[in-house]
Amino acid sequence: MAIGKRDWLFIGIVAAVIAIFVLISGPEKTKRVPKNPDHQRFHDMIKAGKTKKEVDPHCAECHDGVKITFPADHPAKPGAGPMRCLFCHKISK
Ligand code: HEC
Ligand code: HEC
Repeated sequence: MAIGKRDWLFIGIVAAVIAIFVLISGPEKTKRVPKNPDHQRFHDMIKAGKTKKEVDPHCAECHDGVKITFPADHPAKPGAGPMRCLFCHKISK
């Protein structure tokens, strides 16, 4: 069976979909929550069954944009309501 025009069209569409999928996923770049004394209690809270939403508000005790500043291009800005830190910064294993 020869590969006809319609088959090539189909192959092309499948290839394009796969290419887009690979482009938007990419490797995980956002830094994880470090495993060190400053952050250990948050790892423990998650392990103890607390939700990310319950843990998030504690981050601002240090990461308030003053004691520890955020990168200029940081996607979440302090002051604009509660920040969902753990939505982007995963708890490292
Ligand atoms: C007791 C203070 C403290 C608290 C609370 C805290 N952090 Fe941190 N965090 C630090 C310090 C200090 C650093 C290193 C700061 C620097 O690089 O200037 C840091 C660094 C980080 C980094 C960067 C790690 C890296 O690899 O560069 C991330 C991400 C982070 N914290 C996320 C969080 C999240 C999410 C929370 C809340 C669950 C949190 N932190 C709560 C003190 C704290
Ligand atoms: C919408 C996603 C998002 C949210 C919400 C978010 N961050 Fe980030 N954060 C990023 C990205 C992206 C970067 C830049 C890439 C990186 O360094 O991880 C970054 C960078 C950082 C850094 C600097 C890491 C370094 O390079 O030293 C710290 C510290 C940090 N975030 C802490 C926090 C804390 C604490 C919160 C909650 C108050 C928070 N982030 C909320 C996405 C987010």
